[in-house]
Amino acid sequence: MPAAPDTTGPRLLAVSDLHVGFAANRAIAERIEPVSAADWLIVAGDVGERAADVEWALGTLSERFAKVVWVPGNHELWTHSRDTLRLRGDERYRHLVEVCRRLGVVTPEDPYPVWAGEGGPVVVAPLFVLYDYSFLPAGAASAAEGLAQAYSAGVVSTDERWLHPDPFPSREAWCDHRLATTERRLAELPPGLPTVLVNHFPLVREPTAVMRYPVFAQWCGTVRTADWPVRFRAQAVVYGHLHIPRTTWHDGVRHEEVSLGYPREWRRRAAPPVIPRQILPALAPRSASRFRG
Ligand SMILES: [Fe+2]
Ligand SMILES: [Fe+2]
Repeated sequence: MPAAPDTTGPRLLAVSDLHVGFAANRAIAERIEPVSAADWLIVAGDVGERAADVEWALGTLSERFAKVVWVPGNHELWTHSRDTLRLRGDERYRHLVEVCRRLGVVTPEDPYPVWAGEGGPVVVAPLFVLYDYSFLPAGAASAAEGLAQAYSAGVVSTDERWLHPDPFPSREAWCDHRLATTERRLAELPPGLPTVLVNHFPLVREPTAVMRYPVFAQWCGTVRTADWPVRFRAQAVVYGHLHIPRTTWHDGVRHEEVSLGYPREWRRRAAPPVIPRQILPALAPRSASRFRG
Protein backbone atom coordinates (compact mmCIF):
# COMPACT_ATOMS: atom_id res chain seq x y z
CA MET A 1 0.00 0.00 0.00
CA PRO A 2 2.20 2.87 -1.21
CA ALA A 3 0.95 6.24 0.10
CA ALA A 4 -0.18 8.76 -2.50
CA PRO A 5 2.86 10.63 -3.87
CA ASP A 6 2.30 14.15 -2.55
CA THR A 7 5.86 15.23 -3.28
CA THR A 8 8.59 14.06 -5.56
CA GLY A 9 11.32 14.01 -2.92
CA PRO A 10 11.76 11.70 0.05
CA ARG A 11 9.12 11.85 2.75
CA LEU A 12 8.94 11.22 6.44
CA LEU A 13 5.94 8.91 6.94
CA ALA A 14 4.33 7.48 10.05
CA VAL A 15 2.01 4.72 11.20
CA SER A 16 1.11 3.16 14.55
CA ASP A 17 -1.08 0.49 16.07
CA LEU A 18 -0.64 -2.01 13.26
CA HIS A 19 -1.68 -4.80 15.67
CA VAL A 20 -0.46 -7.42 13.21
CA GLY A 21 -1.79 -10.27 15.35
CA PHE A 22 -5.01 -9.69 13.38
CA ALA A 23 -4.76 -11.31 9.94
CA ALA A 24 -6.49 -8.37 8.23
CA ASN A 25 -4.01 -5.95 9.79
CA ARG A 26 -1.08 -8.15 8.91
CA ALA A 27 -2.21 -8.06 5.29
CA ILE A 28 -2.28 -4.24 5.44
CA ALA A 29 1.17 -4.09 7.05
CA GLU A 30 2.49 -6.35 4.29
CA ARG A 31 1.43 -3.78 1.69
CA ILE A 32 3.06 -0.71 3.28
CA GLU A 33 5.67 0.50 0.82
CA PRO A 34 7.61 3.68 0.25
CA VAL A 35 7.13 5.77 -2.88
CA SER A 36 10.75 6.88 -2.89
CA ALA A 37 13.55 4.56 -1.82
CA ALA A 38 14.72 7.40 0.45
CA ASP A 39 11.45 7.57 2.45
CA TRP A 40 11.62 7.11 6.23
CA LEU A 41 8.91 5.37 8.27
CA ILE A 42 8.02 6.05 11.90
CA VAL A 43 6.31 3.08 13.61
CA ALA A 44 4.78 4.53 16.77
CA GLY A 45 4.08 1.39 18.79
CA ASP A 46 1.51 -1.37 19.19
CA VAL A 47 2.95 -3.37 16.29
CA GLY A 48 1.70 -6.47 18.09
CA GLU A 49 1.68 -8.40 21.34
CA ARG A 50 4.02 -11.22 20.41
CA ALA A 51 7.72 -10.49 20.03
CA ALA A 52 7.90 -12.66 16.90
CA ASP A 53 5.16 -10.55 15.26
CA VAL A 54 6.99 -7.34 16.14
CA GLU A 55 10.19 -8.68 14.65
CA TRP A 56 8.43 -9.83 11.49
CA ALA A 57 6.74 -6.47 10.90
CA LEU A 58 9.74 -4.29 11.66
CA GLY A 59 12.00 -6.61 9.64
CA THR A 60 9.68 -6.42 6.63
CA LEU A 61 9.38 -2.63 6.80
CA SER A 62 13.10 -2.06 7.40
CA GLU A 63 13.89 -3.85 4.14
CA ARG A 64 11.71 -1.37 2.25
CA PHE A 65 12.34 2.01 3.86
CA ALA A 66 15.62 3.93 4.03
CA LYS A 67 15.10 4.23 7.78
CA VAL A 68 12.56 2.87 10.25
CA VAL A 69 12.12 4.53 13.65
CA TRP A 70 10.25 2.60 16.34
CA VAL A 71 8.88 3.37 19.79
CA PRO A 72 7.21 0.75 21.99
CA GLY A 73 3.50 0.71 22.58
CA ASN A 74 1.86 -0.82 25.61
CA HIS A 75 1.07 -3.98 23.63
CA GLU A 76 4.73 -4.71 22.84
CA LEU A 77 5.40 -4.45 26.56
CA TRP A 78 2.77 -6.99 27.55
CA THR A 79 3.99 -10.36 28.77
CA HIS A 80 1.00 -12.10 27.29
CA SER A 81 0.28 -15.70 28.23
CA ARG A 82 0.27 -16.65 24.55
CA ASP A 83 3.79 -15.31 23.89
CA THR A 84 6.73 -17.67 24.23
CA LEU A 85 8.94 -14.70 25.18
CA ARG A 86 8.44 -14.50 28.95
CA LEU A 87 10.53 -11.39 29.65
CA ARG A 88 8.81 -8.69 31.69
CA GLY A 89 9.01 -4.92 31.96
CA ASP A 90 12.29 -3.17 31.25
CA GLU A 91 14.01 -6.45 30.37
CA ARG A 92 11.40 -7.07 27.69
CA TYR A 93 11.83 -3.53 26.36
CA ARG A 94 15.62 -3.95 26.22
CA HIS A 95 15.18 -7.24 24.35
CA LEU A 96 13.02 -5.49 21.74
CA VAL A 97 15.63 -2.73 21.44
CA GLU A 98 18.24 -5.41 20.66
CA VAL A 99 15.93 -6.96 18.06
CA CYS A 100 15.56 -3.52 16.45
CA ARG A 101 19.30 -2.93 16.42
CA ARG A 102 19.81 -6.23 14.64
CA LEU A 103 17.28 -5.07 12.04
CA GLY A 104 18.81 -1.58 11.76
CA VAL A 105 15.68 0.02 13.25
CA VAL A 106 16.16 3.18 15.36
CA THR A 107 14.83 3.02 18.95
CA PRO A 108 14.49 5.48 21.87
CA GLU A 109 17.87 4.18 23.09
CA ASP A 110 19.78 5.26 19.97
CA PRO A 111 21.13 8.63 18.82
CA TYR A 112 18.23 10.65 17.41
CA PRO A 113 18.47 10.72 13.59
CA VAL A 114 18.21 14.01 11.69
CA TRP A 115 15.77 14.23 8.78
CA ALA A 116 17.58 16.22 6.10
CA GLY A 117 14.90 16.01 3.40
CA GLU A 118 12.34 18.69 2.58
CA GLY A 119 11.04 20.23 5.81
CA GLY A 120 14.39 19.52 7.52
CA PRO A 121 16.81 19.54 9.11
CA VAL A 122 14.71 18.15 11.93
CA VAL A 123 15.67 15.83 14.78
CA VAL A 124 13.38 12.81 14.79
CA ALA A 125 13.19 11.86 18.47
CA PRO A 126 11.63 8.48 19.33
CA LEU A 127 10.45 8.66 22.94
CA PHE A 128 9.29 6.09 25.44
CA VAL A 129 7.70 7.82 28.41
CA LEU A 130 4.75 5.53 29.29
CA TYR A 131 1.95 6.89 31.54
CA ASP A 132 1.49 7.61 35.21
CA TYR A 133 -2.29 7.84 35.79
CA SER A 134 -2.11 11.64 35.98
CA PHE A 135 -4.79 12.18 33.30
CA LEU A 136 -7.32 12.11 36.14
CA PRO A 137 -11.00 11.67 35.34
CA ALA A 138 -13.42 14.42 36.36
CA GLY A 139 -14.10 14.38 40.06
CA ALA A 140 -10.94 12.44 41.00
CA ALA A 141 -8.40 14.19 43.22
CA SER A 142 -5.74 11.48 43.02
CA ALA A 143 -4.60 8.53 40.91
CA ALA A 144 -6.09 6.18 43.51
CA GLU A 145 -9.48 7.88 43.18
CA GLY A 146 -9.22 7.86 39.39
CA LEU A 147 -8.45 4.14 39.32
CA ALA A 148 -11.30 3.44 41.73
CA GLN A 149 -13.65 5.22 39.31
CA ALA A 150 -12.35 3.10 36.42
CA TYR A 151 -12.79 -0.16 38.31
CA SER A 152 -16.31 0.71 39.38
CA ALA A 153 -17.17 1.65 35.78
CA GLY A 154 -15.64 -1.62 34.53
CA VAL A 155 -13.31 0.30 32.17
CA VAL A 156 -9.85 -0.97 33.05
CA SER A 157 -6.88 -1.32 30.70
CA THR A 158 -5.57 -4.82 30.04
CA ASP A 159 -2.17 -3.32 30.86
CA GLU A 160 -3.08 -3.86 34.52
CA ARG A 161 -2.84 -7.57 33.84
CA TRP A 162 -0.01 -7.91 31.32
CA LEU A 163 2.20 -4.79 31.42
CA HIS A 164 4.63 -5.46 34.26
CA PRO A 165 6.92 -2.66 35.43
CA ASP A 166 9.84 -4.86 36.63
CA PRO A 167 12.31 -3.97 38.04
CA PHE A 168 10.45 -0.77 38.94
CA PRO A 169 7.92 -1.01 41.76
CA SER A 170 5.11 0.42 39.63
CA ARG A 171 4.27 1.69 36.15
CA GLU A 172 4.33 5.23 37.61
CA ALA A 173 7.90 4.69 38.82
CA TRP A 174 8.94 3.35 35.42
CA CYS A 175 7.30 6.38 33.79
CA ASP A 176 9.09 8.72 36.21
CA HIS A 177 12.44 7.18 35.28
CA ARG A 178 11.68 7.40 31.54
CA LEU A 179 10.62 11.03 31.87
CA ALA A 180 13.82 12.03 33.66
CA THR A 181 16.21 10.35 31.21
CA THR A 182 14.26 11.45 28.13
CA GLU A 183 13.90 15.06 29.24
CA ARG A 184 17.65 15.25 29.81
CA ARG A 185 18.39 14.03 26.29
CA LEU A 186 15.92 16.43 24.69
CA ALA A 187 17.36 19.35 26.66
CA GLU A 188 20.81 18.53 25.29
CA LEU A 189 19.74 18.91 21.64
CA PRO A 190 21.15 21.90 19.71
CA PRO A 191 18.80 24.79 20.57
CA GLY A 192 18.30 25.87 16.95
CA LEU A 193 17.15 22.49 15.67
CA PRO A 194 13.42 21.71 15.44
CA THR A 195 12.13 18.24 16.26
CA VAL A 196 9.54 15.64 15.43
CA LEU A 197 8.61 14.05 18.76
CA VAL A 198 7.42 10.46 18.48
CA ASN A 199 5.70 8.67 21.37
CA HIS A 200 3.11 5.92 21.50
CA PHE A 201 0.98 7.93 23.92
CA PRO A 202 -0.15 11.51 23.29
CA LEU A 203 2.15 14.11 24.85
CA VAL A 204 -0.76 16.42 25.70
CA ARG A 205 -4.05 15.46 27.27
CA GLU A 206 -6.46 17.20 24.87
CA PRO A 207 -6.71 14.39 22.26
CA THR A 208 -8.10 12.03 24.92
CA ALA A 209 -11.16 14.26 25.39
CA VAL A 210 -12.99 12.55 22.51
CA MET A 211 -12.45 9.02 23.76
CA ARG A 212 -15.50 6.84 24.15
CA TYR A 213 -14.64 6.17 27.79
CA PRO A 214 -12.96 9.29 29.23
CA VAL A 215 -11.99 7.36 32.37
CA PHE A 216 -9.60 5.32 30.16
CA ALA A 217 -7.39 8.40 29.68
CA GLN A 218 -5.48 7.34 32.81
CA TRP A 219 -3.67 4.76 30.68
CA CYS A 220 -2.93 7.26 27.90
CA GLY A 221 -0.11 9.57 29.01
CA THR A 222 1.21 11.92 31.65
CA VAL A 223 0.63 15.60 32.40
CA ARG A 224 4.39 16.00 32.75
CA THR A 225 4.97 16.13 28.96
CA ALA A 226 2.40 18.88 28.30
CA ASP A 227 5.02 21.55 27.62
CA TRP A 228 7.47 19.35 25.73
CA PRO A 229 6.15 20.04 22.18
CA VAL A 230 6.74 23.80 22.55
CA ARG A 231 9.77 23.54 24.80
CA PHE A 232 11.57 21.14 22.47
CA ARG A 233 10.59 22.96 19.25
CA ALA A 234 8.35 20.26 17.77
CA GLN A 235 7.30 20.79 14.16
CA ALA A 236 5.05 17.83 14.71
CA VAL A 237 4.19 15.29 17.41
CA VAL A 238 3.49 11.77 16.18
CA TYR A 239 1.55 9.38 18.41
CA GLY A 240 -1.02 6.58 18.36
CA HIS A 241 -2.65 4.43 21.06
CA LEU A 242 -6.05 6.16 20.94
CA HIS A 243 -7.07 4.49 17.66
CA ILE A 244 -8.55 7.83 16.62
CA PRO A 245 -6.53 8.86 13.54
CA ARG A 246 -6.63 12.63 13.03
CA THR A 247 -4.67 15.86 13.01
CA THR A 248 -5.10 18.35 15.86
CA TRP A 249 -3.22 21.52 16.87
CA HIS A 250 -2.24 22.41 20.43
CA ASP A 251 -0.21 25.51 21.36
CA GLY A 252 0.45 25.97 17.63
CA VAL A 253 1.99 22.48 17.24
CA ARG A 254 0.63 19.85 14.88
CA HIS A 255 -0.19 16.53 16.57
CA GLU A 256 -0.71 13.54 14.30
CA GLU A 257 -2.49 10.42 15.57
CA VAL A 258 -1.36 7.89 12.95
CA SER A 259 -2.98 4.64 14.09
CA LEU A 260 -4.45 1.85 12.02
CA GLY A 261 -6.32 0.28 14.97
CA TYR A 262 -8.30 -2.95 15.23
CA PRO A 263 -10.18 -4.33 12.20
CA ARG A 264 -13.50 -3.83 13.99
CA GLU A 265 -12.60 -0.12 14.28
CA TRP A 266 -11.27 0.69 10.81
CA ARG A 267 -13.92 -1.41 9.06
CA ARG A 268 -16.63 0.74 10.68
CA ARG A 269 -15.29 3.97 9.21
CA ALA A 270 -16.70 5.45 6.01
CA ALA A 271 -13.29 5.61 4.33
CA PRO A 272 -10.60 2.92 4.27
CA PRO A 273 -7.52 3.52 6.44
CA VAL A 274 -5.00 5.99 4.99
CA ILE A 275 -1.62 4.71 6.09
CA PRO A 276 1.15 5.59 6.33
CA ARG A 277 0.55 9.29 6.95
CA GLN A 278 2.89 12.01 5.72
CA ILE A 279 4.63 14.03 8.44
CA LEU A 280 7.28 15.88 6.39
CA PRO A 281 7.27 17.75 4.20
CA ALA A 282 4.15 19.12 5.89
CA LEU A 283 1.06 18.93 3.73
CA ALA A 284 -0.94 22.07 3.07
CA PRO A 285 -3.79 22.29 5.64
CA ARG A 286 -6.38 21.71 2.90
CA SER A 287 -4.91 18.37 1.83
CA ALA A 288 -4.05 17.44 5.43
CA SER A 289 -7.70 17.78 6.35
CA ARG A 290 -8.62 14.76 4.26
CA PHE A 291 -6.88 12.67 6.89
CA ARG A 292 -9.10 13.83 9.72
CA GLY A 293 -10.71 10.91 11.46
FE1 LIG B 1 -3.19 0.14 19.87
FE1 LIG C 1 -1.55 1.35 22.74
